[in-house]
Amino acid sequence: MRKIAYLNSKYVEFKNAKIHIEDRGLQFSDSIYEVVPFYKKKLIDFKFHIKRLKYSLKELNFKFVVDEKKINKIFYKLINLSNLNYGIVYMQITRGVQSRDHAYKNNLKPNIIIYIINKKLNLPNKKFKAEKAITYEDLRWKRRDIKSVSLLANVLAKKEAIRKKAYEAILIENGKITEATASNVWIVKNKKLITHPTNTDILRGITRDSIKKIIISNNLELQEKSFTLEELYNADEVFITSSGNFLTPITIIDSKKINKGKIGNISLQLAKLYAKLSIVD
Ligand code: PDD
Repeated sequence: MRKIAYLNSKYVEFKNAKIHIEDRGLQFSDSIYEVVPFYKKKLIDFKFHIKRLKYSLKELNFKFVVDEKKINKIFYKLINLSNLNYGIVYMQITRGVQSRDHAYKNNLKPNIIIYIINKKLNLPNKKFKAEKAITYEDLRWKRRDIKSVSLLANVLAKKEAIRKKAYEAILIENGKITEATASNVWIVKNKKLITHPTNTDILRGITRDSIKKIIISNNLELQEKSFTLEELYNADEVFITSSGNFLTPITIIDSKKINKGKIGNISLQLAKLYAKLSIVD
């Protein structure tokens, strides 16, 4: 893989892609990002990611006008330069550079960083993988609807998951499951699909939205409500969704088996429908 990054209008080798030490993204996590998957060199749900990018920019009052066509061209150029068939495009926009001060100036020039990350996507084929998760306290700030790079609480939770040989950490706040460190969480109970409602407590996942549409169009029952740790442990099936892992079944949580440790039928069915609709051309 050729490591080329797009940095403020230029395509540069990774080793030459440098940011100022007083960039506000570095000092205050005053910065937002998007992760867009691609498969067979084609972007998945690009438009929806751009919509969410605009939302994050607006909520944080960033002075950056999104040119969707231009961003699309850059993404495809990087995908082609990378020689990869699948992976993710990482895009980060920082508010810009300023002498250190908590309050930002209004006229800053944002820094734009875009590059490709080589990542296997979990598809419902012979290699379809179920994963293990732990639960962990949700220590994050209160605007999780903004896709900001303020991810320290997610970092700590995920590291604990890895230490315990798990893949993800499912986050709990006041006895309720919010989401996971880098994915949304779903349970299936008596054939009903349940996930946290979209508000400032979670990130509104693009994959979550796609799965929601599939559930509705297949006449499955959906409830957007928060659920407890007990409901999580006693679910018939549990899965997570994100652009980085698509739909991934969770079959062990904190050493408790879900669905006897096997991938559930509804999870598999939804993963197949998602793959068919979003990925396969
Ligand atoms: N994470 N919740 C959180 C906290 C996330 O960070 C993500 C995505 C999601 C799922 O969103 P989507 O379906 O749009 O990817 C939910 C990305 C992949 C990341 O940080 O790498």
